[in-house]
Amino acid sequence: MLQGRSILLIVGGGIAAYKSAELVRLISKSGGAVRVLLTKAAREFVTPLTLASLSGEKVYEDLFSLTDETEMGHIELSRSADLVVVAPATADLMAKAANGLANDLASTTLLATDKRVLMAPAMNVRMWLHPATQRNLSTLRRDGTAIVGPNEGDMACGEFGPGRMAEPVEILAAISGLLGGKGIPMPAPAPIPELSGPHGVTASGALTGKHVLITAGPTHEPIDPVRYIANRSSGKQGYALAEAARDAGARVTLVSGPVTLPPPPGVTLVRVETAREMDEAVEAALPADIAIFAAAVADWRTKAEAGQKLKKDGKAIPPLELTENPDILARVSRHPALRPRLVVGFAAETEKVVDHAIAKKARKGCDVIVANDVSQESGIAGGVMGSDRNRVHLIGPEGTETLPEMSKSEVAAALVARFAALFDRLAGK
Ligand SMILES: Cc1cc2nc3c(=O)[nH]c(=O)nc-3n(C[C@H](O)[C@H](O)[C@H](O)COP(=O)(O)O)c2cc1C
Repeated sequence: MLQGRSILLIVGGGIAAYKSAELVRLISKSGGAVRVLLTKAAREFVTPLTLASLSGEKVYEDLFSLTDETEMGHIELSRSADLVVVAPATADLMAKAANGLANDLASTTLLATDKRVLMAPAMNVRMWLHPATQRNLSTLRRDGTAIVGPNEGDMACGEFGPGRMAEPVEILAAISGLLGGKGIPMPAPAPIPELSGPHGVTASGALTGKHVLITAGPTHEPIDPVRYIANRSSGKQGYALAEAARDAGARVTLVSGPVTLPPPPGVTLVRVETAREMDEAVEAALPADIAIFAAAVADWRTKAEAGQKLKKDGKAIPPLELTENPDILARVSRHPALRPRLVVGFAAETEKVVDHAIAKKARKGCDVIVANDVSQESGIAGGVMGSDRNRVHLIGPEGTETLPEMSKSEVAAALVARFAALFDRLAGK
């Protein structure tokens, strides 16, 4: 499962540190190589000798060790793995990483790494629920850190609630998911307190270990080397969805048409221009657990792109003969081998929004259609396309739900929470 992949495991100073030995064993058993970095506090809970014996590698501890720096400098250590895993991620380590502190080997490594980081938080329930920890959690998620757990249950300190570290097997599943392997089934994640209001809530880790493929933006269909057919899509809703799915713990591939938005941190961005390029990029990104097609793909392209700029030379106006573009949503919905379990399409309608969306869902064979009214009568100042607000109708297997007008980020969080729950229902969980 992890053949040829290497993991840097940072063990923090929490009571759950003893479980890191089992995690090292599981990673090795899955074929992965694991190098361990122990914090000073972690040494109080687990010995370097145990972890060195299980990993078969030297255990790293000290930022200022001359031997370590000559064998493998801290920068090299931070880059040497495919994924950095922090387990247990103590409140202290989360706070340091969220604030960019670099005063020991673990925090320096986390700041210096160019690799994805997965954290498995573990702490007393009050520490976990403290606004400071929740603030740090939000910051880490925004920075692209994936989070697995924590679970709810009895704690070593005698209290009950969320804060128990995810089991080593769950962490292994999250590692495998992030590294693109076949995820292994995971128990439902623990609920966490609401972070962003009644509609902006995505359960922590609701998509951990899942691969979510999202398309966003318009496509540009060339007429000649300098002109193209386009539409008014800004990509904002698709990019917000990518961030919300990432924040829910997913590995996200975002296939984006030409937009002016910055790349979302912690998301694999594939830039394309035409519908055909988008179709190819989507196919290359499969398999995925969930596919969300939010891009406004041009239905038609010119039959033949002129090799040279068309000249206005006083003769007849050149005719624009169009031909149909690939229907990415319909193709993936009926994919013979790699249909994602949950396929979501978007419909931009200017009239009879829900009726047209219901018909589109049946025609395309997807599970859900998110319909938005892009007419000037939508009630949203300036219209939906390009604006920061949206009002959507969700047409799914269980009926139609209309969400109130919200910011596109809030719409994204609300949609991702619903997609995660529907994915679980479709999986029979
Ligand atoms: C017995 C004991 C258990 C502890 N368990 C935890 C824990 O589970 N989670 C946590 O965040 N801190 C825990 N702490 C506090 C951390 O050890 C302390 O904050 C330490 O500075 C964390 O160091 P680190 O940044 O190396 O992880 C515990 C402390 C003690 C004495």
